[in-house]
Amino acid sequence: MPQHATNRHTGPQHTRSQHTRSQHTGSQHTGSQHAADAGPAHADHAHTRPRGWWRDAVIYQVYVRSFADSDGDGVGDLPGVRQRLPHLAGLGVDALWLTPFYASPQIDGGYDVADYRAVDPRFGSLDDARQLVSEAHTLGLRVLLDLVPNHTSDAHPWFRRALAGDAGARACYHFVRGRGTAGQEPPNDWESLFGGPAWSPVPGEEGLWYLHLFSAHQPDLDWRAPRVHEEFDSVLRFWLDMGVDGFRIDVAHGMVKAEGLPDVGAGEQARMIGARVLPFFDQDGVHDIHRAWRRLLESYGPDRICVAEAWAPTAERLARYVRPDECHQAFNFHFLQAGWDAQELRRVIEESMAAATTVGAPTTWVLSNHDVVRHRTRLGSLARARAAALLMLALPGSAYLYQGEELGLPEVRDLPDEARRDPAFSRAAEGAVTDGQEGMRDGCRVPMPWTAEGPSLGFGPDGGWLPQPQDWPSLSVGAQTGDPLSTLELYRTALRLRRLLPGLGDSAMEWLTAPEGVLALSRPGLVCVLSTRDEAVEAAAPGELLLCSAPGESRESMEAGAGAGRLRIPANSCTWWAA
Ligand code: NOJ
Repeated sequence: MPQHATNRHTGPQHTRSQHTRSQHTGSQHTGSQHAADAGPAHADHAHTRPRGWWRDAVIYQVYVRSFADSDGDGVGDLPGVRQRLPHLAGLGVDALWLTPFYASPQIDGGYDVADYRAVDPRFGSLDDARQLVSEAHTLGLRVLLDLVPNHTSDAHPWFRRALAGDAGARACYHFVRGRGTAGQEPPNDWESLFGGPAWSPVPGEEGLWYLHLFSAHQPDLDWRAPRVHEEFDSVLRFWLDMGVDGFRIDVAHGMVKAEGLPDVGAGEQARMIGARVLPFFDQDGVHDIHRAWRRLLESYGPDRICVAEAWAPTAERLARYVRPDECHQAFNFHFLQAGWDAQELRRVIEESMAAATTVGAPTTWVLSNHDVVRHRTRLGSLARARAAALLMLALPGSAYLYQGEELGLPEVRDLPDEARRDPAFSRAAEGAVTDGQEGMRDGCRVPMPWTAEGPSLGFGPDGGWLPQPQDWPSLSVGAQTGDPLSTLELYRTALRLRRLLPGLGDSAMEWLTAPEGVLALSRPGLVCVLSTRDEAVEAAAPGELLLCSAPGESRESMEAGAGAGRLRIPANSCTWWAA
């Protein structure tokens, strides 16, 4: 692939600087100083990554509804994202992934699309989308959209026509006769991920059912219909022509269902998601779709990518989604699920890297997203969250950040029921088994705090769609900026250092000997030490301290009380050392 490759459409030139080690060795940094010294992250154009920008990219997930509200309706929007792009450029990420902003009844936060080529008026206009892409590119940020191909909204014109009896439209969905003499039972035992049966009766047609793996307002498309393929090819082209850099593919493992729609044959299917191949998930046929999309993306040049949101039972099966002719990346949820356990983290890292290597793909790492409990809360403390982030950013491959994790935001557990919007919440309240979140996904979707004051803390001119906790002013971007001990400055410095270390993202890694509960790994120019222990632990000094997740710690403080040439590694910490 040519260096500095630009494609023939509107993709920007994205390059990273190549700096020598001498620029970062010999100094200690526990705050933002280093990043400030090194100049603006996006002004660097000396070094290219020859094998694809995504292989070590840091990609920031913008949950549009909760990011920034420009017009005061309480809902985040595209002009709001545009206004806050400088935050993302300053943070030092490579790209953003925008959650769905298409025309939608918003039953499932926009993952119920009624028109794939229109922007929902709540989020802005097509022109806003165009300007957002262009302004992001000017700042050196690539833009990924969220493609939702497994299901549409029930408000999609195809589904409306299907309900009205149009046979062509019906062929695009799974309309199936039920079991029992009059078809009064659902066609099989599949359960919705939001709880309850995955089938709903077709109104006015006794014995006929339609499939929805998610809410009843999200009918599954039948990818055996050629028209579905044609439509999505056209949708991809629509946005690629606008200049977007690629897509995160929602439920990328779900489009194809096993022939004959066989029963799963066991209860509590939600608990099996990602644990085994199911007749509706991880079927071999989905790979043909990914291959076709890869060809389409490549017809726009080498830099347009797709990342699969795929739940696969093993790292090996997940690697199938990132074979050279399929998706460029797949989310690695096994890392997210590893918890705060050094051995388990090591196992998952090794397995993920080994599996990805077999197909020549980069690994990805993610700790939080809009579907899971924020990792600060999941791991049990801010100290662990900060440490986990530094571990993730020291690993080979690409990392995904979820908005607000750079502020150390916790999960909000005490939202009033009436404020919650997650469709799984009402199902869980009815006692249905859901996908393990008990329908509580609103707690990680609370609007971003930008300023320490103002209604909705700078999220918008008025209140936000979900209330922010009382103590969030101190977590706001404004309150943390310039405070060297803050989580925001820790992320800024880590991302800055990541750029300064050539090849950190996409090269070999070696494990070093470490005490129990501690992981030590060596990367080009860097040794990363993670301690999952609740007390300080003595270890040999690996080099000069570059960055420490424990606020206020320095090499001197770690030397105090330790034997000669040794350090006390703080509890629940991650440190980066120049090597
Ligand atoms: C995965 C998305 O991340 C989630 O938010 C959504 O509910 C389901 N897919 C259904 O589209």
